[in-house]
Amino acid sequence: MPQSPSREKPSTANPVSSARLANSLFAASFATRPSVIASAPGRVNLIGEHTDYNGGPVLPLAIERRTAVAAQLADRWTLISDTDDSIHHVQIDEPLRHQWTDYVVGVVRELRGLRAVPAGGHIAVATTVPIGAGLSSSAALTVATAKALSLLAGKRLSAAALADVAFRAEYHQVGVRCGRMDQTIAAHGERGSALLFETADGTLQRVPFPGRLWVVETGLSHRLTGGSLNQRRRECEEALAFCRDWRPGLRHLAQLSPDDLPEMARRLPPPLVPPVRHLVTETARTRAAAAALAAGDLVRLGLLLVEGHASLRDNYESTIPEADLIVESAVRHGAYGARLTGAGWGGAVVVLAPASHDRRIVAEIAGDFQARFGRIPDTWSTRAAPGVRRETIPA
Ligand code: GLA
Repeated sequence: MPQSPSREKPSTANPVSSARLANSLFAASFATRPSVIASAPGRVNLIGEHTDYNGGPVLPLAIERRTAVAAQLADRWTLISDTDDSIHHVQIDEPLRHQWTDYVVGVVRELRGLRAVPAGGHIAVATTVPIGAGLSSSAALTVATAKALSLLAGKRLSAAALADVAFRAEYHQVGVRCGRMDQTIAAHGERGSALLFETADGTLQRVPFPGRLWVVETGLSHRLTGGSLNQRRRECEEALAFCRDWRPGLRHLAQLSPDDLPEMARRLPPPLVPPVRHLVTETARTRAAAAALAAGDLVRLGLLLVEGHASLRDNYESTIPEADLIVESAVRHGAYGARLTGAGWGGAVVVLAPASHDRRIVAEIAGDFQARFGRIPDTWSTRAAPGVRRETIPA
């Protein structure tokens, strides 16, 4: 979702339900009640960064912060969001406007192909997912919109169908060259579990994650429409084409193994070597991390997170100094591990710390951050939360 000036978000300690916020915004904007409200979560990715568009595994979990979409049938499309408070009248077939409404328009276009959308609607969107923080506010919006509008049309789409509509809306309509991780976890998230998603064959495996983790926001937001993510993606496609010269039939870069790295380093143009090194090592780390989590070995998981961050910093070059400092500080103060989560070039760091002193560790990180950058970062905790759902309309 593009960044826009947002009003103050609800307290992080006790987030207000996004469904209630969307319901109130709808009533205040359209002087009637919505007939449907649906919500979907943001996510943190524990590990498996930039692997999803290279056929590798990812290990995300849905967070307790959600985006809710309240909707009612109407003759035309009228949209409002608590991120900008303006009323937007949109025409579905007109060119996109490079603003948050594009994501809703993209979903409507994709739902049309399934005959699962009405001819028009009033829509109010409210979110407690920080925007532009690498926590997948856009997938929370597209998945919640797909659910709300398909229900409005009298259709019940499966979680897989909702994830697919949302992915197609972002990729084919809005033009973000993302993979399928964010929409998949927003649709399939489950309380108390992370999800090991093997993107090459679509396999989903739940991995229990009963504890809580912390998010430390760098306060620097990224925009994914254009820019660095699309550029890295092009480099990966170029590298795959080179690799196919000596590995005919290779479908994804993530199929290469760490043993292939020396040969790959000899054959690839030098600038393409570090991104491929990241993908290959990250693929191995992600599967190892899922195994460590399943075994309850948080020490091992933490080490893998830190290694993953180092690879993003040194190979993929998607970290920023603010995130590097948070990770280094987390480790120094006794966290199991920490890592920049999401696409990068800004965003937030996920911190995994022993429950007995996680608050102290996060306070120390905030202190180190303030000493270096002169401001206190937003920090909050979350547990693994459910994916998309219909909400009951508050009385
Ligand atoms: C963004 C994309 C995801 C994924 C991550 C990086 O969040 O939307 O599909 O590629 O970046 O892991």
